[in-house]
Amino acid sequence: MKRTKITDLLTATAGQDVRVCGWVRTHRGSKNVHFIALNDGSTINNIQVVADTGKFSDELLKRATTGACLAVEGQLVQSVGSGQAVEVQATSIDVLGDCGADYPMQKKGQSFEYMRQHAHMRLRTNTFGAVMRIRHNMAMAIHTYFHQHGFFYFHTPLITASDCEGAGNMFQVTTKNLYDLRKDEQGRIIYDDDFFGEQTSLTVSGQLEGELGATALGQIYTFGPTFRAENSNTPRHLAEFWMIEPEMAFYDKDDLMNLEEDFIKYCVGWALDHCADDLAFLNKMIDKTLLERLHSVIGQSFVRLTYTEGIDILQQAIAAGRKFEFPCQWGDDLASEHERYLVEEHFHRPVIMTDYPKEIKAFYMKLNADGRTMQGTDVLFPAIGEIIGGSVREESLDKLMAEINRRGMDTTSLEWYLDTRRWGSCPHAGFGLGFERLLLFVTGMQNIRDVIPFPRTPGNAQF
Ligand code: 4AD
Ligand code: MG
Repeated sequence: MKRTKITDLLTATAGQDVRVCGWVRTHRGSKNVHFIALNDGSTINNIQVVADTGKFSDELLKRATTGACLAVEGQLVQSVGSGQAVEVQATSIDVLGDCGADYPMQKKGQSFEYMRQHAHMRLRTNTFGAVMRIRHNMAMAIHTYFHQHGFFYFHTPLITASDCEGAGNMFQVTTKNLYDLRKDEQGRIIYDDDFFGEQTSLTVSGQLEGELGATALGQIYTFGPTFRAENSNTPRHLAEFWMIEPEMAFYDKDDLMNLEEDFIKYCVGWALDHCADDLAFLNKMIDKTLLERLHSVIGQSFVRLTYTEGIDILQQAIAAGRKFEFPCQWGDDLASEHERYLVEEHFHRPVIMTDYPKEIKAFYMKLNADGRTMQGTDVLFPAIGEIIGGSVREESLDKLMAEINRRGMDTTSLEWYLDTRRWGSCPHAGFGLGFERLLLFVTGMQNIRDVIPFPRTPGNAQF
C-alpha cells in the first residue's frame, strides 16, 4: 500500500485504509489498547495510532518506544479523544528501526545546550522540526519575492581573493602543505605555487561580485553560504551562515530603504501565511509573544533615522540615568545593546539607521556631501539588533579611490571591481540580510545555533 504523509492524513476523510510511516513520539498503553503518537516530519502534528492488545503481541508493542521507526497500516477513523479529527486503527505494525533507551532525544524538555551536543539527532524533536520547516519556507519566500520583483538569482563564488568587508576575518583556502611552507626574505608565505596562484579565502560577502551582476542585469540577488572567522561567541554570530544580498542599479537611499522594509515584511507575512502550525507551536512552547511580535512588525512602518540622531537619543538616555556597558559617543560603532535600546525601549518598532561615520563602515559606501558620513542603511530589529547591513555604493571612481587610498588598501585583487566604476559606472545600492538572524526573529529562538541544522562556531565543527 502507498504511504500517505501525516500532513495529508490529518485532513483526509475517515473510512479509508491507509499506510503511515514515522517515528514514535509517545506511547502509552493499558490492558486493552495502546496509543502511539507517530510523526513523520511533514507537520508538527502527530497521528495517533490505536493498537488493540488482542491484535498485537506484547513483544511487538514493547518495541514501539520513543524514537523507534514504524510502518503502520490500518483504517483511518474518526477520533474520539486524541485532539485530532482522525486516527489510525492499526491492522499491522512493522518496526522499521528499533530505538533503545540510550536514544539521546528520549526525554522531553531537554535543554537547548544538551540538544546542541546531539545536533544530529535534535532534528527529530518538535522544536527543531518546526524551526527547519520554517527555515525552508523562508527560503521559498525569499526566492518568490525576488523572482516576482524582477530580480535575477545570481551565484557568486565562495572562494575569493578579496576581502569585501575589509575586516580581515577570513578563513584561508589552500592546498599547500602546511608543514612545509615556502617563505620570502620578509618571512611572507609564497603563494605562487598554491592552487590558485595567490592567497585565497572563503567569502565574507558576495557583494563585490553582486555589483558586477547588478551593473549588467539591473537587479540581482545572491543567497548562499558566507563565512566569518570572527571569534565572537555570541547568540547572534555563526562562522558559517547564509546571506541574502540583493544589489540594484539606479537605486538611491530611499529606494534602498523601501526595499529593505518591504522585503522583510513580505518574509514575515509569508511565515504567518505558510507556517501557522509551527508558529503556533513555537508561540506556545518557546515565546508567548512571538505571534504578536510578527504581526506588529508587519503592521508598523519602520523608523528611519540617521546615526547622528540615534547617538543624540542614546546620549539623552545616558543623561537620564540609563547605563550601557559600551561607550556611544559620535564615531563609536554601536553595540547590540545600543541598537536594542533604540528599537525595544525608545521606538518600540524596527529602525533603519542611516548615514554612519565613514570610520566605522566599509570602503565601498557612498560618501555624503559632509565628507564624514556614508550612506549606510542598517535595519535594526527587536530581540536581534542588526538584521540587515546595506548601503548606497560609491559610484565615482575618484572618490572610491580616495577612500581606498585613505585606508591604505591594496587594490591588486580589486582591479576587476574598480572596472565597474571605470566603464559605464552607475548609481547603485544593495544590502545583506543574515538568513539566520531573520530566522531568530521569525521563530522566537534565542540562539542562532538553534536555527541552522549544523552550526559552525569557534571550537565547533562537529557533525
Ligand atoms: O553588515 P554585513 O557585514 O554587510 C555585508 O556583508 C555587506 N557586504 C552586505 C551588502 O551590502 N551586500 O553583514 C550583513 C548581515 C548582517 O546584518 C547580519 O544580519 C548578517 O549579515 N551577519 C551575520 N549573521 C550571522 N553570523 C555572523 N557572523 C554574521 N555577520 C553578519
Ligand atoms: Mg553590518
